Amino acid sequence: MELDFTSRGDFYKQYGPWAVIAGGSEGVGASFARKIAAHGIRPFLVARKPEPLVQLSREITAASQVEVRAAPLDLTVEGDIQELKSLTDGLEVGLFIYNAGLEGGHGLFVERPLEAAMRIIRLNVVGPAMLCHHFGAKMRERGRGGIILVGSLGGCAGSANIAAYAASKAFEQILGEGLWYELKPFGVDVLSYVIGNTKTPAIARHGTRLEESGYFIMEPDDVAQEGLDHIKDGPTWFPGETNRAFAQALCTPDRKAATELMSQATTSVKPLH
Ligand SMILES: NC(=O)c1ccc[n+]([C@@H]2O[C@H](COP(=O)([O-])OP(=O)(O)OC[C@H]3O[C@@H](n4cnc5c(N)ncnc54)[C@H](OP(=O)(O)O)[C@@H]3O)[C@@H](O)[C@H]2O)c1
Repeated sequence: MELDFTSRGDFYKQYGPWAVIAGGSEGVGASFARKIAAHGIRPFLVARKPEPLVQLSREITAASQVEVRAAPLDLTVEGDIQELKSLTDGLEVGLFIYNAGLEGGHGLFVERPLEAAMRIIRLNVVGPAMLCHHFGAKMRERGRGGIILVGSLGGCAGSANIAAYAASKAFEQILGEGLWYELKPFGVDVLSYVIGNTKTPAIARHGTRLEESGYFIMEPDDVAQEGLDHIKDGPTWFPGETNRAFAQALCTPDRKAATELMSQATTSVKPLH
């Protein structure tokens, strides 16, 4: 297929020609990939299951006429992260999005196996740290680029039943904020993109009964669009008015109030299993 790389706007110039989307096969990650490809940027998709990667790659190539590459890798495995670095070595990666995240089920931290927490830490802490270090250094050398770290409102306060997840998302948010300040003088935009309840396939498979909770829920397409629209509005952006109001309540110096507010929410929503 002939690929058309001729008409390019400012978004492409700042964030092209390649975008690595870690956790880019479904939900918010897939929406990011489609929207980025519509700017002519070539997505490099990473997720574990090969089938959704193949399907999305075909769909994007047909819709946006851009080359798509994909690699079935597990970002909790350090060797796979090294593999991702090798696979993208010859590519000019102007945009790096870390969307993959593991909530890992509900329960008391001390009752659950330590390995459950360590898996969360590998995906939500070690993965973003290693890959921001790698891609961020190259963007800094080039003097342009962008990084979006997809965080969670759950990371804005201690949360009972998901203590390790909440802590891991706090790391991701604060890492992004520091990188925003560090990389800004070098022309690299960094955004900690702190999202709330979103109707993703991952949540449908393993998550909580969001519909029954009565909480504000966003669609993946809307979340991805708002992230891209505000990539220059770092260090942190919360999508949706309701999420922004909730974030304000959670970012209070009264940590007891914040932790109680969040923990009431995370102990009231019943997990599917
Ligand atoms: N959905 C919500 O309500 C919500 C709320 C707050 C924050 N967030 C955050 O938003 C992000 C995305 O949300 P989501 O997980 O619900 O849905 P999602 O956007 O569908 O993301 C899941 C993506 O990550 C991939 N992935 C998962 N584990 C992986 C691993 N170990 N290695 C490589 N890829 C992996 C998945 O594919 P495979 O399964 O094939 O690997 C899929 O492509 C996460 O960081 C999450 O913490 C979500």
